[in-house]
Amino acid sequence: MTDCQADGEGANSPMELYEKLNAQGEKVRSLKTAKAEKAEIDAAVQLLLKLKVDYKQMTGNDYKAGCPPSENVVMSDNGPAADGADDEDTVDPWNVATSNAKGVDYDKLIVRFGSSKIDQELVDRIEKVSGQRPHRFLRRGIFFSHRDMHQVLDAYEKSKSFYLYTGRGPSSEAMHVGHLIPFIFTKWLQDVFDIPLVIQLTDDEKYLWKDLTLEECRRFAVENAKDIIACGFDVNKTFIFSDLDYMGASPEFYRNVVKIQKHVTFNQVKGIFGFTDSDCIGKISFPAIQAAPSFSNSFPQIFGGKKDIQCLIPCAIDQDPYFRMTRDVAPRIGYPKPALLHSTFFPALQGAQTKMSASDANSSIFLTDTPKQIKNKVNKHAFSGGKDTVEEHRKYGGNADVDVSFMYLTFFLEDDEQLEKIKQDYTSGALLTGELKKILIETLQPMIAQHQERRKQVTDEMVQQFMTPRPLNFNF
Ligand code: TRP
Repeated sequence: MTDCQADGEGANSPMELYEKLNAQGEKVRSLKTAKAEKAEIDAAVQLLLKLKVDYKQMTGNDYKAGCPPSENVVMSDNGPAADGADDEDTVDPWNVATSNAKGVDYDKLIVRFGSSKIDQELVDRIEKVSGQRPHRFLRRGIFFSHRDMHQVLDAYEKSKSFYLYTGRGPSSEAMHVGHLIPFIFTKWLQDVFDIPLVIQLTDDEKYLWKDLTLEECRRFAVENAKDIIACGFDVNKTFIFSDLDYMGASPEFYRNVVKIQKHVTFNQVKGIFGFTDSDCIGKISFPAIQAAPSFSNSFPQIFGGKKDIQCLIPCAIDQDPYFRMTRDVAPRIGYPKPALLHSTFFPALQGAQTKMSASDANSSIFLTDTPKQIKNKVNKHAFSGGKDTVEEHRKYGGNADVDVSFMYLTFFLEDDEQLEKIKQDYTSGALLTGELKKILIETLQPMIAQHQERRKQVTDEMVQQFMTPRPLNFNF
């Protein structure tokens, strides 16, 4: 294996996966021969099955022992263009689409990406370790998948702290409610665990991918920072940075970028991100820049040069390809792998087949919308699972599983009992679509008005403070 080849958990090539399958098949056979405990055999078989699914996903062929993959298979792991089978959901950093009105099949995605489900046991554990009632995003499966969260909690219980890293690509001034999900949750994590947080604004990424000038991207970064700060982050515990500024200001950060670049091949990023020969080289090397904040010595002012502080990344599941790559290189450059918490997507008003997108005004509730705009958009565009006539609706009831207004309430209505009652009444037909929409409108209007109020309080000086490299209120 050369310096640049992958190892670690996520196999990056068909050959690697093939070899893993061979080894796992061997393990199952030897456990059976040794008459090992049933649970142990079951677990090994489970992993074997999962690897087989991954293999089929990656190569398009079934795994057969003794038949290694040919060299030139297309990797269809999550390359945007290569997402093979028709019944498969498309999920990558640039596209989210499914044919199912209920939205993406997240259980399948867990198997495909090789992450773990956030089950009740983990939610209970977070409650026990943090001493706080789990956030509604955890109670309701909105943060549904993770990597290594148990490890983070094990260490935290032994007084070994960690830090949070999340980010945002500032592609316009207009942020919508869906963009707030990771920040609302990150704020909660910061509060309950009392840990430092770094927020990356990838103005460089947006410059590379969109038809925007550097100045525009930099300006959007500052404007977006105001919305992020309005979520309530503590300036003594939070560092927000623009890549365009921080990359040049921090030798330590850039050193990590270069280390990562040396350990990932073009072939690997092609496989992971679907880059082609005609993509500019900026895009090809960008993943190293999104990976670098996962390592604590990228922020010497905060961590005093320590390189082994564990990182936890809350993000939407479409960002996972970046962090699969990061976790793969981490041990090879002597760093711990970042842990992850993944959220589902925030559905577009038109339905859960795709996520809310700032470039489609009708699909989005913006953070700048007036109460009237919110009301009109919900009434006019929110896809309804209700029946066509009141009579039919009363008789057959509505379908909450495809109803966007109901889905939004699962994100924002705090009271579990009230939410359950709404679901029952809607399903039975007692609650009409117009009434359900009214509840959503009355939930969103004050929430967004309060956000606007808090954003107004955020001055340029405050943004400057958050974005200045400096020590935070922690000793490492
Ligand atoms: N690429 C992300 C976007 O386009 C921004 C981002 C950078 C990010 N680092 C992150 C998101 C870490 C989540 C976690 O929005």
